[in-house]
Amino acid sequence: MFDFKDKTVIVTGAGQGIGKEVAKGIVEGGGKVIICDINEETGKACAEELGNACFYKMDLGDHKNIREVMAEILKNNDHVTGLVNCAGVISKKPFMEITDEEWERTIRINLTGTFTACSAIFPYFVENGGGRITNVSSVAGKIGGGLLGTAAYASSKAGVNGLTKAIAKEGGKYHINCNAVCPSFTHTPMTKSLSDDPEKNAKVIGMIPLGRAAEPVEIAQMILFFASDAASFVNGEIGDCDGGIVMD
Ligand SMILES: NC(=O)c1ccc[n+]([C@@H]2O[C@H](COP(=O)([O-])OP(=O)(O)OC[C@H]3O[C@@H](n4cnc5c(N)ncnc54)[C@H](O)[C@@H]3O)[C@@H](O)[C@H]2O)c1
Repeated sequence: MFDFKDKTVIVTGAGQGIGKEVAKGIVEGGGKVIICDINEETGKACAEELGNACFYKMDLGDHKNIREVMAEILKNNDHVTGLVNCAGVISKKPFMEITDEEWERTIRINLTGTFTACSAIFPYFVENGGGRITNVSSVAGKIGGGLLGTAAYASSKAGVNGLTKAIAKEGGKYHINCNAVCPSFTHTPMTKSLSDDPEKNAKVIGMIPLGRAAEPVEIAQMILFFASDAASFVNGEIGDCDGGIVMD
């Protein structure tokens, strides 16, 4: 649906779920995708399935590792044009049960991991005439959680929204666009426990004006738009892809 001819895009968390659909859309659009995931098995399998793709093991919770792997990617691949930060973890404990460790891990992977990946590629984009960064946030970042994720998750995604706008402001003069997509309930391995619980599932569906959860490809379409040149003048946008939960 979107043109990625002559584009090489790094997609984190592309071993499964939403990230895998994004990677698929890039290859179908004529581009090359660099899959980064902590899960070697699914990441490699995805790269093999897609064809014009390669896999790098990256742990978004390990900031030294992100910078090392990113440097290797930029050294080994010609003209990387985009970064999609899709890797993320859920945190669903009630506020009173969130330990310091749970809080720290969620923020470290979802927010600091996104920062570090952006920070590691930003100078490369500056030197190479620009680039497109697309962050995968969540409706939780706008409404304080309440679907599946709770306080730590919502805070990490609210942080991603702020980070996205700040990068958009500072990156603009270097032709670096930065946008984010906020999905709501989407059928992926992350939400299996919710999909499998009829009572919780019905409660969450009841909060979505479209009256259903999304399929990963429906979220990927909006991410692919932001990641493509079709969105050439879109910058600093926090786009909702949530069936109508947030209307702002
Ligand atoms: N599924 C939903 O309902 C939903 C809703 C809103 C936002 N999101 C966001 O969309 C993104 C993708 O979610 P999904 O539903 O496809 O999840 P998923 O769990 O199906 O896939 C997440 C991917 O990220 C990878 N990953 C996890 N931790 C990592 C780490 N430390 N380093 C590198 N890779 C890591 C996993 O191996 C996996 O391949 C996440 O950022 C999530 O927060 C999902």
